[in-house]
Amino acid sequence: MSDYLGRNAHVSTVAAFGQQHTSVSMYSATTVVRAPESVVRGRWSAAVHGFVGEELLLNHRRSGRDLGMQLGVSRFYGHDAVLSSAHSDLQERLDGAIALPAHRRLRAGLTTTVAARRSGRGFSGKPAALDELATVLWHAQGVSGSLPVPTAQDGDAAVALRNAPSGGGLYPVRIAVLAQHVKGLAPGAYEYQPHSHTLLPLGATPAPVDLARQLFTADVELGKVAFALVYVYDLYANSQKYGDSGLVFALIEVGGISQNVHLARTALGMIGCDQGGYDKQTLEKTLGCDGTSRHVVHLTLLGHGEA
Ligand SMILES: Cc1cc2nc3c(=O)[nH]c(=O)nc-3n(C[C@H](O)[C@H](O)[C@H](O)COP(=O)(O)O)c2cc1C
Repeated sequence: MSDYLGRNAHVSTVAAFGQQHTSVSMYSATTVVRAPESVVRGRWSAAVHGFVGEELLLNHRRSGRDLGMQLGVSRFYGHDAVLSSAHSDLQERLDGAIALPAHRRLRAGLTTTVAARRSGRGFSGKPAALDELATVLWHAQGVSGSLPVPTAQDGDAAVALRNAPSGGGLYPVRIAVLAQHVKGLAPGAYEYQPHSHTLLPLGATPAPVDLARQLFTADVELGKVAFALVYVYDLYANSQKYGDSGLVFALIEVGGISQNVHLARTALGMIGCDQGGYDKQTLEKTLGCDGTSRHVVHLTLLGHGEA
């Protein structure tokens, strides 16, 4: 076979083209890679009539002046809405939360760090230090500023601002940590709480999470990953204000947060890789998300590479 392909290289090219541009399997509609029916959607696969993404783009906003806001923004400048934003720290649970060490001040130059950030998949299994995890989390979502939003009833009201931007300062994306090899932290699932800079165990007692059950990847030895960060979108945190644009905003925000993650881990000398191939439902079950109002939208693996 390889002899034949060696003599007829065009056959491989035609086969590869075919795989990318035609519907090759009756199962293609339900597999993760959607290239075939994306290209000839609807015509070849009865199960797929278009892109979900295309539908979203066509429908979420009728014009640049219409954000798709269902309730209108004015309510969000009212006293009750401002107060709930200004006191979002009260949503954090401190009973049973684990205090994280202070973040490190990273001195690597920005240009050097941006250009050195590469995805790394060769994890060594070396544990991460707790302050490395804390540093990555703080750069991703830590609180570093305050925006005064005085109302007639509360002249001192202020919204805590974080290291990644968020539409309306509503911060609809939470970070869950799946710890595997972090010194001083039991393996298990946690939620990062930015206001108190703590980790809240998700579940009564932390238990190891089998990453292999949550991810589809052959490129990474999952047992050697120090920890995974899972980005969870809380639909009602911003869609009450922004309507359908809430989802779009959240996905933009995940990009900002994950870039901060990658820049911080690069400056710390750690490796990491985003993962598009994960089992959303299994992961949501692991994290206690209902998959209706709370969705897993992205995932990053982090740890140390071979020295
Ligand atoms: C949304 C997203 C999903 C990704 N999914 C995967 C993945 O499933 N597996 C993987 O090995 N890399 C994944 N990556 C990493 C890309 O392959 C990588 O960023 C790209 O090849 C560019 O290389 P660089 O990050 O080293 O500059 C993903 C990146 C992004 C932004």
